Amino acid sequence: MNIETRRDIQSAYETVCRYTEGRNLCAYVLTFGCQQNEADSEKLRGMALKMGYSLTDAPEKADLILVNTCAIRQHAELKALSIIGSFKHLKKEKPSLVIGVTGCMTAQEHRVQDIKMRYHYVDFTLEPSSLHLLPLALAEVLSVKKRRFLREDCSTEAIEGIPLSRTCRHRAWVSIMYGCNNFCSYCIVPYVRLRERSRSAADIEEEVRTLVSEGCLDITLLGQNVNSYKGECNFAELLRRLDRIDGDFQLRFMTSHPKDVSDELIHVMAEGKHIAPHLHLPLQSGSDRILKAMNRHYDIARYMQTVNHFRAACPDFALTTDIIVGFPTETEEDFEATLDILRRVRFDLVYAFLYSARKGTPAAEMEGQIEESVKKERFARLLALQDEISLERAKAYENKTLRVLVDSKLEKSGGTLYAGRTDSGKLVHLVADDSMTGKYCQTHIDRAEAFILHGTALKK
Ligand code: 5AD
Ligand code: SF4
Repeated sequence: MNIETRRDIQSAYETVCRYTEGRNLCAYVLTFGCQQNEADSEKLRGMALKMGYSLTDAPEKADLILVNTCAIRQHAELKALSIIGSFKHLKKEKPSLVIGVTGCMTAQEHRVQDIKMRYHYVDFTLEPSSLHLLPLALAEVLSVKKRRFLREDCSTEAIEGIPLSRTCRHRAWVSIMYGCNNFCSYCIVPYVRLRERSRSAADIEEEVRTLVSEGCLDITLLGQNVNSYKGECNFAELLRRLDRIDGDFQLRFMTSHPKDVSDELIHVMAEGKHIAPHLHLPLQSGSDRILKAMNRHYDIARYMQTVNHFRAACPDFALTTDIIVGFPTETEEDFEATLDILRRVRFDLVYAFLYSARKGTPAAEMEGQIEESVKKERFARLLALQDEISLERAKAYENKTLRVLVDSKLEKSGGTLYAGRTDSGKLVHLVADDSMTGKYCQTHIDRAEAFILHGTALKK
């Protein structure tokens, strides 16, 4: 970021602070999509606090509403647009309300036009690579009283120093890189989050050290493809450095691209003291022909080699994946090949998605788009198979005592339960008490369902 932009942002902070001073204004931030977006929303909240707003969970109380959108599938976009629509009446009731739309959806020209023309109560948009310019956008809207839909391009660096307001003390996300260079043919991410840029390892290490010293127990390193991290070192070395930090904490990371998972990484995972026993390795399809059409740069033989190596080095680790059902030209045979891999690998969990055509991506232009009804029928078969496999894998936890990090209280009709996660990331509903929230807790697993383990906290 050049010195002028830095100065402009500083002066924009001052402008907005003069506006908010003494007025008791509140900001509401709503997030759609992935962990990267959750992490971005922590920055939006951080900047709002620095501009003199306090935070609220109630949109009707807000003076500033920020909707942080996702564009990965059409469903996510439609959901965001529908909620943005529901804020129209709030602006009518309170004309001074400022509404901003941020995130991946706003990095697409056709969506910006759509918002400009049809959502006239939206004051500004801000794409993910310009998030740090929130004060500038807001200062302009407040002082010039004009809507603002500029598209800035700052894809070349990882911006440091944006204030953060973390919502959870015991878990944290740490972005280590932004953007993606892979251009998988179905994916909108490289177009909306732009090219890869990595943060410096020293900055990441300092952030992780600070989090650990403040008592954070579980840290997820985030990037679209963490394995292509290129700071002062590669990703395996970064993980090794972070693993040397003293304290009681675990490190996880997502997402890994199968083409870039190295032997060195698997070695660091196997040897590490703080590395969570979990790898998320998106497969997308079990058919070599479809993988090629997806531009994934690996085939099934290569994927299986990585899985076998990983399982041999890290036998007790969980393995999860992403699958896209109904990619253009997918035949019954291709789909059967995917089911076959699920049977062979026996993932702990599969995140399955119906293929959704994204405007501007090569796959959206391909011939052989699959009928929704066919996609849905295949999707149901995949889920039925994976439910059986996930249940079988979950059953292995029954009657074991596991460490669970307790997150929150759940009010259930049968009484109060708590939700937490095992080191491997498996969701647990447990009988516990308030004193255990935010802490590690030894838990007896009484019963397993495919996606939830049911347990009882063991009192010390
Ligand atoms: N349609 C369906 N699923 C998609 N994903 C990415 N793009 C699409 C799309 N156009 C899925 C991939 C990726 C996950 C985050 O979202 O499986 O790994
Ligand atoms: Fe999208 Fe592929 Fe990049 Fe993942 S690696 S964000 S699926 S282009």
